[in-house]
Amino acid sequence: MATRPSVQRIKKDKRDLDIQPPEGMSRRRFLTFLGTGSAALAAGSSGVLVGCAEGEEQAQQGGSQEQNGSSESSGSSGGQKAPAAFSPIEPTDEDDIKLPEGFEYGIIRSSGDPMGDGMVYGDHNDYVAYFPADALDGGDSSEDGLLWVNHEYVNPLFWSKYTDLEGATKKTKEQIDREKAGVGGSIVRVKKEGNAWKFVEGDGMNRRIDATTPMDLTGPAAGSDRMKGATEVIGTLANCGGGVTPWNTVLTCEENFQDYYGQRTDDQGEAGQGTDDAPEALEIAETYRWLDDPDNAQPPEHYGWVVEIDPFDPESKPRKHTWLGRVRHENAAITVSDSGRVVVYTGHDEEDQCIYKFVSSGTYNEDDREANMELLSDGMLYVADFAQGKWIAMDYENNPIFKDNDYKDQADVLVRTIDAAKLEDPETELPIGTPMDRCEDIEVNPGTGQVYAALTNNALHGNFYGQIIRMTEKDDDAEAEEFSFEVFATGGPQTGFASPDNLLFDNDDNLWIVTDISSSSLGSGIYSSFKNNGAFIVPGGLDGGASSSDIVQFASAPVEAELTGPAFTPDGKTLFLAVQHPGEESEDPKNPTSTWPNGDEPKSSVVTITGFA
Ligand code: FEO
Ligand code: CA
Ligand code: CA
Repeated sequence: MATRPSVQRIKKDKRDLDIQPPEGMSRRRFLTFLGTGSAALAAGSSGVLVGCAEGEEQAQQGGSQEQNGSSESSGSSGGQKAPAAFSPIEPTDEDDIKLPEGFEYGIIRSSGDPMGDGMVYGDHNDYVAYFPADALDGGDSSEDGLLWVNHEYVNPLFWSKYTDLEGATKKTKEQIDREKAGVGGSIVRVKKEGNAWKFVEGDGMNRRIDATTPMDLTGPAAGSDRMKGATEVIGTLANCGGGVTPWNTVLTCEENFQDYYGQRTDDQGEAGQGTDDAPEALEIAETYRWLDDPDNAQPPEHYGWVVEIDPFDPESKPRKHTWLGRVRHENAAITVSDSGRVVVYTGHDEEDQCIYKFVSSGTYNEDDREANMELLSDGMLYVADFAQGKWIAMDYENNPIFKDNDYKDQADVLVRTIDAAKLEDPETELPIGTPMDRCEDIEVNPGTGQVYAALTNNALHGNFYGQIIRMTEKDDDAEAEEFSFEVFATGGPQTGFASPDNLLFDNDDNLWIVTDISSSSLGSGIYSSFKNNGAFIVPGGLDGGASSSDIVQFASAPVEAELTGPAFTPDGKTLFLAVQHPGEESEDPKNPTSTWPNGDEPKSSVVTITGFA
């Protein structure tokens, strides 16, 4: 399909512009947009100078990031100077991370790297959380920390040397064991030395959690019939997005869990796919074939949960919180309501699936971490009804719809959340949960409490570019049972982004969007103009929503990769990104479609981006 010249011209004009405050844009908003940091903003109009002075000082000290690669401009003049502003980049299909002038990237760990004690850094890193190493003492170190990194899935072609692209041949137990060690998540101690970040080898906090790690269940489904009485399960997998709790634990979300042991136990007691309304047989060639090792196969119902992990205690046992429901959880966005209850927003990333929130029974106590650890074990799950602007409680005792449809108890509702959210409300004749356009990440704006959700696309009804919606809870209270919403930003050639995935607010309220156009579509047809996936910025303060001229591109990913993560250090000076699945269309390991980062086999890697003033 031909590109649209008019749109291309507008975008090119936009990117060629030297950034100046657009007419009508306040000075404060302009500075915010440039990422000069809150200290600079507080200094008012001298803010840019403050930022530049800091950058020059760093350059004079010779602080240069150790590199496995560099931005296109890092070798040119000013490459080590922290800029107070940046010129947006243009879309590119280069097989590298491309950044604006003055920014650099460095690699922390890549797929298969050693983690010490025989552990390996897993494959296909995704969500990243940064914890200051001194966080439990109230500190906010931006130079010494723990990264939690999800490992969403593996590419068997490279990871386990399983080269049957059709999945028709059996996997060996060794290949399956290798794959089980490639998913889950990593806890990685990192330190900044000079201007470069390093993985701290041999640190006692380094840890791998994978598909073999024992974990406990909490909430109604623990020990229930649907879980065959299990209170403990084996492993986590399909870990996509996540969130950080106010008590410094991480929530990691099991998304495409159906690709491992199936989605549901069928009526014959076998692993099956689909839902109650649309049962499907499990086609093993369409899974990772872990069922080729039947002695170690696990029930499908043990996956599809949100898992809480304490990165500060290497002995801690992860817990799957069943009150948060069992769906293809993309993410967990956590906030605290006016009364102190903990609220977790989570989306199901699949066409025509729902958005949920959990509200805790107990309240957050900033002085009692141990008590906070129990907050996600009891509460209520709600599903969003966008037709009425209501959160519908998935409450077995008080909402007759579940008993009327033969659900046995609260555990049954939670294990079969996907089916339960589809039940038809007899009054509205609509499902109680509104089918959405593949909800990827959700973030709560820390300043306003508004909830931003990336709906990445839904080809089933013609939404190919996706959009970001903004929800406002009634009375701005996160535990409200009513909300309003609007479309905040739309994907498409006019804004330069498509298929929004992870979201992040920085210290200056700017919204960061990373995109996930599928590799098979990148650079062709209706996606031609976007080229590789990237990272985009919407400046803070756009109360009325973002228009096309507001959104700029900050980074471009290597070939066929998406830029996941993302996470900033508390000082806003380092951005962590997880580059996921470069070269994922490769069919021959000897002839990969990407050779990032080392010029040979493509490897997902977590990177630091520095250069922020
Ligand atoms: Fe794993 Fe929906 O992205
Ligand atoms: Ca995602
Ligand atoms: Ca994705």
